Amino acid sequence: MSKKMMYLVLLGVLFVVVVESLTAQPPPPPGRDFGGRRGRDFGASTAQPPLPANEEEKKILSVLDEMNQGQGRAMMNVPREDGRLLRLLTESINAKNVVEIGTSNGYSGIWFCLALRTTGGKLTTHDIDEGRASLARENFKRAGVDKLVTLVMGDAHETIKNLKEPIDVLFIDADKEGYTDYLTKLLPLVRPGGLILSHNIESAPRDFVDAINKNPDLETVQAQGVTVTLKKRQGQ
Ligand SMILES: C[S@@+](CC[C@H](N)C(=O)[O-])C[C@H]1O[C@@H](n2cnc3c(N)ncnc32)[C@H](O)[C@@H]1O
Repeated sequence: MSKKMMYLVLLGVLFVVVVESLTAQPPPPPGRDFGGRRGRDFGASTAQPPLPANEEEKKILSVLDEMNQGQGRAMMNVPREDGRLLRLLTESINAKNVVEIGTSNGYSGIWFCLALRTTGGKLTTHDIDEGRASLARENFKRAGVDKLVTLVMGDAHETIKNLKEPIDVLFIDADKEGYTDYLTKLLPLVRPGGLILSHNIESAPRDFVDAINKNPDLETVQAQGVTVTLKKRQGQ
């Protein structure tokens, strides 16, 4: 090979090495499993999985783990870190009455129940799909929380009209185009100091996003895939 050819080959190799090092992605941080299933994966603030404090909690968490590893995506479940947040918020406001729109197979519902078994509260959850609802019934039983749950079948736009009691936590996670209707119908029932949690609102209609952000009686922040809205107490 002539000297000129050797220079050209060397230059080519150098070029490839430089381009590869500039475009390489850094590896993900070790030991982090955020359990992301759908929507944006925000990464999580917690590197550790939840730690059970007793046997009952251990059993529920193991059912949630199985569900997360099984049909999480097909069932459109919230990511694990969002589930942890639902539980934490529910327990911290000592919620007694949680209403969920969008049960699916019961994954987020079981996170609520983790809180409700300590607050002495209950979950009323709505779904239109009998197949997913029957999986939810099985999962609530497996987790041992079925006594805390009432599953209402049918179009939630209709079935929620039967709700009468004050709501501590309202979780909206069903048909996106229905978010505004759910909010309009149920906001009057949410107690002052109660929370409206809505999931993946980036694909919800603009009027819903405006309704939770432009009402001075509400205070809204985004946390992972969960948008948290406080119904302010009077005089705040
Ligand atoms: C995103 S999934 C709910 C996921 C669940 N919250 C979880 O994280 O485990 C949405 C659910 O809403 C239900 N849904 C859609 N439209 C509905 C309606 N009009 N009334 C009741 N449920 C509805 C679907 O059948 C589906 O199971």
